[in-house]
Amino acid sequence: MAGGFVSQTPGVRNYNYKLTPKVFVTCFIGAFGGLIFGYDLGISGGVTSMEPFLEKFFPYVYKKMKSAHENEYCRFDSQLLTLFTSSLYVAALISSLFASTVTRVFGRKWSMFLGGFTFFIGSAFNGFAQNIAMLLIGRILLGFGVGFANQSVPVYLSEMAPPNLRGAFNNGFQVAIIFGIVVATIINYFTAQMKGNIGWRISLGLACVPSVMIMIGALILPDTPNSLIERGYTDEAKQMLQSIRGTDEVEEEFQDLVDASEESKQVKHPWKNILLPRYRPQLIMTCFIPFFQQLTGINVITFYAPVLFQTLGFGSKASLLSAMVTGIIELLCTFVSVFTVDRFGRRVLFLQGGIQMLISQIAIGAMIGVKFGVAGTGNIGKSDANLIVALICIYVAGFAWSWGPLGWLVPSEISPLEIRSAAQAINVAVNMFFTFLVAQLFLTMLCHMKFGLFFFFAVFVFIMTIFIYLMLPETKNVPIEEMNKVWKAHWFWGRFIPDEAVGIGAAEMQQKSV
Ligand code: BGC
Repeated sequence: MAGGFVSQTPGVRNYNYKLTPKVFVTCFIGAFGGLIFGYDLGISGGVTSMEPFLEKFFPYVYKKMKSAHENEYCRFDSQLLTLFTSSLYVAALISSLFASTVTRVFGRKWSMFLGGFTFFIGSAFNGFAQNIAMLLIGRILLGFGVGFANQSVPVYLSEMAPPNLRGAFNNGFQVAIIFGIVVATIINYFTAQMKGNIGWRISLGLACVPSVMIMIGALILPDTPNSLIERGYTDEAKQMLQSIRGTDEVEEEFQDLVDASEESKQVKHPWKNILLPRYRPQLIMTCFIPFFQQLTGINVITFYAPVLFQTLGFGSKASLLSAMVTGIIELLCTFVSVFTVDRFGRRVLFLQGGIQMLISQIAIGAMIGVKFGVAGTGNIGKSDANLIVALICIYVAGFAWSWGPLGWLVPSEISPLEIRSAAQAINVAVNMFFTFLVAQLFLTMLCHMKFGLFFFFAVFVFIMTIFIYLMLPETKNVPIEEMNKVWKAHWFWGRFIPDEAVGIGAAEMQQKSV
């Protein structure tokens, strides 16, 4: 696939690229980093609905679940149970902050390797867990793994990819996440049918498989040209760029990378610098995008789909099956993003997906409200239950081609090199913090807010859609080291970007825009 691209932003340069097998294979392996995150997201919901697991570690919840008189909305409400799910995200939050230094100083691939390694140890703790302590230690180690991988992989993919295909390549991360989720739900479906304690042990222990894949992957992956230059390996960086771009004529891009690196060397403290006014758009976006991504409410479905379906009166097996179906739909719909994100752009997907999620959430809330009312008692007929599953699928599809992949893509591509690692760490930390909050609070919120919970998330989806419309410029096809020009051209953010940051005089901007 040869050719340049047309950028809509004045002053943004045109490179000429081919899609080489090398960059394809490299990014394919790099995307494995999403597997551990996805496997974990998908496995915990199913495991926490397995009776032998609950009976062994959470006998109180088990008794409550068995009680016929319990209010439907509150059947699974237990802080300790949610702590099992959410502890991982606190650990991921903390480790992503360290990961940014490892990623910057030692390169992207060693962060990935470390992520795989800690995840491996965590999966062993969980698979062999004898008590809650072992379970939680395992979860924390898994969390460290996720923090390192999520910090380094999106940056790795964005830096490796040719700019005109960066969206598609970066979306490979989300595809891997969802693939991990789907595999996990399929495994849960089978292990849940095993007698005794073996089922959940297999589910949790199998997390070692994706972790080994990442470790091996990280060992064979080359580092990105950007990272090689950043660490002083200029000749190697040029060779790398030539080999991944499939041409010797990379002078222009190479010079951009070197310039960006020179500039970034002036910046001694990325953490302090990201607070400077000139990085305000990146700071706001790297805080708000992950915040909003989690406030779509997606993880209510990801973590608790089996629990939610049981709350709706489905049997345990039917619940796991429905969770599997929503996972497969999410996977298929993520490909819509892969194939359209570089053609239609980020904004169109964000806006369309937002509207779709908004409508389906309101419909889900209304239906559950009508069927269960505020008291949370009653029964739902088969056709109504199927309609709710269908609405959930429409909601999940909307997320799958918008906030899901773009929540990782956009923050990883909008920052200049000097703050990129720090910005990505903030992105992961904020994402993990709100993943934690949703995971920790969802069952209590369902218990207290009842069907209103879906309206609660709908309000946020409405706000975030307006936010994107007003505040996010289009970043498709823009070379990553030229991103400042996009901010400079934005109606609101332009005022924060000094002229020297875009390396181009106002007259020249004017001329290029004609
Ligand atoms: C989000 C996760 C979510 C996953 C699957 C990711 O982009 O960060 O929180 O669980 O997509 O839906």
